[in-house]
Amino acid sequence: MSRALVHLLGVLWLCCWLASTGESQIEYLRYKDPKQPVPTRVRDLMSRMTLEEKIGQMVQIDRSVANANVMKTSFIGSVLSGGGSEPLPRATAEDWVNMINDFQKGALESRLGIPMIYGIDAVHGHNNVYNATIFPHNVGLGCTRQGFVISDWQGIDRLTSPPSSNYTYSVQASIEAGVDMVMVPFEYGKFIQDLTLLVKSNIIPMERIDDAVERILLVKFTMGLFENPLADTSLVNELGSQEHRDLAREAVRKSLVLLKNGKNESASLLPLPKKVPKILVAGSHADNLGYQCGGWTIKWQGFSGNSDTRGTTILNAIKSAVDTSTEVVFRDNPDNEFVKSNNFEYAIVVVGEPPYAETAGDSTTLTMMESGPNVINNVCGTVKCVVVIISGRPIVIEPYISSIDALVAAWLPGTEGQGMTDVLFGDYGFTGKLARTWFKSVDQLPMNVGDPHYDPLFPFGFGLTTESVKDLVARSTSAAVGARACIFTIIVTLIISLYLPG
Ligand SMILES: *[C@@H]1O[C@H](CO)[C@@H](O)[C@H](O)[C@H]1NC(C)=O
Ligand SMILES: *[C@@H]1O[C@H](CO)[C@@H](O)[C@H](O)[C@H]1NC(C)=O
Ligand SMILES: *[C@@H]1O[C@H](CO)[C@@H](O)[C@H](O)[C@H]1NC(C)=O
Repeated sequence: MSRALVHLLGVLWLCCWLASTGESQIEYLRYKDPKQPVPTRVRDLMSRMTLEEKIGQMVQIDRSVANANVMKTSFIGSVLSGGGSEPLPRATAEDWVNMINDFQKGALESRLGIPMIYGIDAVHGHNNVYNATIFPHNVGLGCTRQGFVISDWQGIDRLTSPPSSNYTYSVQASIEAGVDMVMVPFEYGKFIQDLTLLVKSNIIPMERIDDAVERILLVKFTMGLFENPLADTSLVNELGSQEHRDLAREAVRKSLVLLKNGKNESASLLPLPKKVPKILVAGSHADNLGYQCGGWTIKWQGFSGNSDTRGTTILNAIKSAVDTSTEVVFRDNPDNEFVKSNNFEYAIVVVGEPPYAETAGDSTTLTMMESGPNVINNVCGTVKCVVVIISGRPIVIEPYISSIDALVAAWLPGTEGQGMTDVLFGDYGFTGKLARTWFKSVDQLPMNVGDPHYDPLFPFGFGLTTESVKDLVARSTSAAVGARACIFTIIVTLIISLYLPG
């Protein structure tokens, strides 16, 4: 063989080798091809997955135990922020994006590069995030039409009493019942170990695992997560933006329920005049953003005060709503002498419950937070008062109702206090209705519409309405015009009738 031929063969061999290696490096992976239909991509990916990788998809862990390496080596399918689980105190939107992208990069470095889903444990707005808008609205969490079933925080632990006394049982019972992803959220090693054993010993059939993983992957593919796994920072300025705050403010004014307006129908107190010499704002909840937002805000059980997030307290909303000549005096707990010795035109009393979530908020008395009853007693009766109740549920109000001129159930209005003043001062009318029955006393409870003993203070669906000042003016103007037209018609009719042959 000539040296030239040997050389040529050598080159050919090298070319073939390079081509084959190159091919395996860019091996066509059907599940990564966005042009393939989603079911095909799911099937292809499933066929490549080991049991360990499949079980990993069924695990959701809290961010406090997550890092890029855990994501990669345990094949974790999802991470969440439980209530108050933030990357650092007062984290910015960039801090959040960077943290989530770091976990995601770990997931993408796993053998098959399956992206994770990030979850936020939230009940109103992006409630873990400093500077986010908090508003009275429940967000639908992760429920696409092709959703999967996820358990709640340590939920499967509670299938036994005491909780987690037989974790293997908890894992078996929940997965067999159809839970696809488990919000573990801390001891994921134990969960993975137990589920693996249950499958290997044929207690949980492989079909159930495949069914769960298929549903999870279907959501990930449908969301476009394989094509766009990383969050970008281009939207960080949307957080707490004016547009969001305006929407939240609208939600506040539409959710407020007016329960009483004046001692009788001819003496309505609302809407309040903006231009008067002096008004009193009183109560524990008038200048407290934390109370206004309730539980599940920044911290699991919420907070007290004005520094843990940004927004407008009801007091500040009042100050900016009234005429510049109106003096606004604030006392959280004024005594009766103080109220008597000032010439207040009217008082706005804001009282209610402290923030709470779940177990910590359980109550058998449903009373308002202390000094609330005192403030109502010291203010109402001496000066015309509107009482605003900040609470997550109906609370005891019946003993005070006769001394109160106007009463508003504000629920937990969140960060946008101006939604309150929009309706108090008549820029908008009240429209909200009770979504719950308001009881007279706790010994009536439970009491719901249709119950034989139904005897509420305010029935389900109740809510007085007011007109905005603008509409009132328009109506009285058109009424005046109408009255003038009517008088004119009568006069013309009289004149004509005088001249008619009789
Ligand atoms: C725990 O539950 C499993 C069933 O999932 C059962 O076989 C086992 O006996 C239980 N262990 C104890 C200590 O009760
Ligand atoms: C809060 O959000 C607004 C709107 O995006 C932004 O202008 C402001 O700088 C943010 N403030 C803080 C302290 O993050
Ligand atoms: C309605 O209430 C006002 C103020 O309390 C009172 O002056 C008036 O007499 C009441 N009218 C009726 C019809 O009860």
